Amino acid sequence: MSVTISILNQKGGSGKTTLATNISVGLARLGGRVLLVDTDPQGSARDWRSANENCQVPVIGLDRPSLANDLKDFSKQYDIVVIDGAPQLREMAAAAIKTSDAIVVPVQPSPYDIWATADLVELIKARQEITDGKLQAAFIVSRAIPNTKLSNEVIEALSHYSMPILKSMTFQRVVYAASASAGLSVYDAEDEKAKYEMQSIVEELMQWVN
Ligand SMILES: Nc1ncnc2c1ncn2[C@@H]1O[C@H](COP(=O)(O)OP(=O)(O)OP(=O)(O)O)[C@@H](O)[C@H]1O
Ligand SMILES: [Mg+2]
Repeated sequence: MSVTISILNQKGGSGKTTLATNISVGLARLGGRVLLVDTDPQGSARDWRSANENCQVPVIGLDRPSLANDLKDFSKQYDIVVIDGAPQLREMAAAAIKTSDAIVVPVQPSPYDIWATADLVELIKARQEITDGKLQAAFIVSRAIPNTKLSNEVIEALSHYSMPILKSMTFQRVVYAASASAGLSVYDAEDEKAKYEMQSIVEELMQWVN
């Protein structure tokens, strides 16, 4: 049985693809058979894959609301399926939620980004109700500014949604875009802090879903 983890937020540019690609590589490095599913018609994860012919993670594009069905044949061959969510498309978010065991919602520490997650949290909670709490979901802070304290306002604003916040997070670092442009991850780059923060995220996720 594979575990499906979705990285979702209808807000564009929140860090979904960056997290999905890096988490997939991190999980694959731990030895799991990992499949990355690109549900965004923009195809960013597929572009990432195409930029590197030695990419360690297989990527497939499934960007129709029939996602759960379309995924069935593939997921059996993998231990972990990571879904990269699409911006804006509510129907795709609902389809991903339906086929997930765990959902991670990246949120940039800004009030606009926090407010914009309300609709998604509602969809997630509705699903949690009918699955008896089996669906896990948490926020992850994305692109925090290094050497600044995450303001209490951000934590306080997110806590209104009554959804846990992962302890690990990503910080704003140029290595994320730089490595992505070559179809790589932070694990292939020189930035030790970025590697460490990604590994913390991967380990926290593994503990969380097991
Ligand atoms: N931690 C980070 N530090 C610096 N840049 C980042 C970080 N995370 C993401 N980015 C950059 O921010 C931009 C948006 O990130 P990304 O594409 O991952 O977001 P997304 O949620 O997938 O966007 P979309 O909604 O369009 O699919 C990209 O240029 C990416 O390189
Ligand atoms: Mg994306």
